[in-house]
Amino acid sequence: MSTSNELIRVKAATGIEGLDDILDGGLSCGHLFLLEGEPGTGKTTVALHFLLAGARAGECSLYITLSETEHELRQGARSHGWELPDNVCIFELTPPESLLNAEHQQTLLYSSDLELGEATKQIFEVVERVKPTRVVLDSLSEIRLLAQSSLRYRRQILAIKHYFVRYDATVLLLDDLTTESLDKTVHSVAHGVIRLEELAPNYGAERRRIRVVKYRGQKYRGAFMTSPSWVMACMCSRAWWRPNTEVPTSDSS
Ligand SMILES: Nc1ncnc2c1ncn2[C@@H]1O[C@H](COP(=O)(O)OP(=O)(O)OP(=O)(O)O)[C@@H](O)[C@H]1O
Ligand SMILES: [Mg+2]
Repeated sequence: MSTSNELIRVKAATGIEGLDDILDGGLSCGHLFLLEGEPGTGKTTVALHFLLAGARAGECSLYITLSETEHELRQGARSHGWELPDNVCIFELTPPESLLNAEHQQTLLYSSDLELGEATKQIFEVVERVKPTRVVLDSLSEIRLLAQSSLRYRRQILAIKHYFVRYDATVLLLDDLTTESLDKTVHSVAHGVIRLEELAPNYGAERRRIRVVKYRGQKYRGAFMTSPSWVMACMCSRAWWRPNTEVPTSDSS
């Protein structure tokens, strides 16, 4: 049995051909990955692709959303022509009361500990119920907001990581990079980091780019995928290889 075949078996393909090429088959099963990018760079699109690829393989997937409503998510998926099957569950985690109610925030002893605990409890409960093998958490900004301090945020991310490792689920945490601090907590905790970028040069067309910035236990392949639109990127199979890195030949692929 060849090593590459063994490797492919333990990878969860994202379903985006070019990205799977860059990732050498996909995301390592049972590990936690970070998908980061400014708002509108395509995180949800990539995440839905990842869950749909799992669903096609008969896996059960879970999309935990704190930033978009279930209705918005389904509408967005439909705009791409995707109908989410029953084995892709969406769980809408509503923000705690005190985040929505300004009066509540001012008059009550601020209870972020309780709120963070409640949010995590709800996440763990839905995981126990659905038993997914692929999980998306959208997005970390809300968790960071609830955690308030970087110490509590790091603890929370570690708790989430260890919980999912026990369940052998492959987890994609989305981060829209909207918080001011340059907190690298998740970069250090995650098994791999993928970055989405929107490039708006002074001359020439705007482009979107996807780049793997970290991948533990795997040779760095230094490739990226770029496209004028995500819809195109998700359809096209090309990955672009940086000069001086190993370019797979048709024999080796
Ligand atoms: N059906 C579609 N056809 C063409 N382009 C689309 C379609 N749906 C989304 N897009 C484009 O893809 C971009 C990325 O959308 P997506 O919702 O995946 O981004 P995101 O990173 O999750 O954004 P946010 O941080 O706001 O959640 C959108 O800004 C839009 O320009
Ligand atoms: Mg999104």
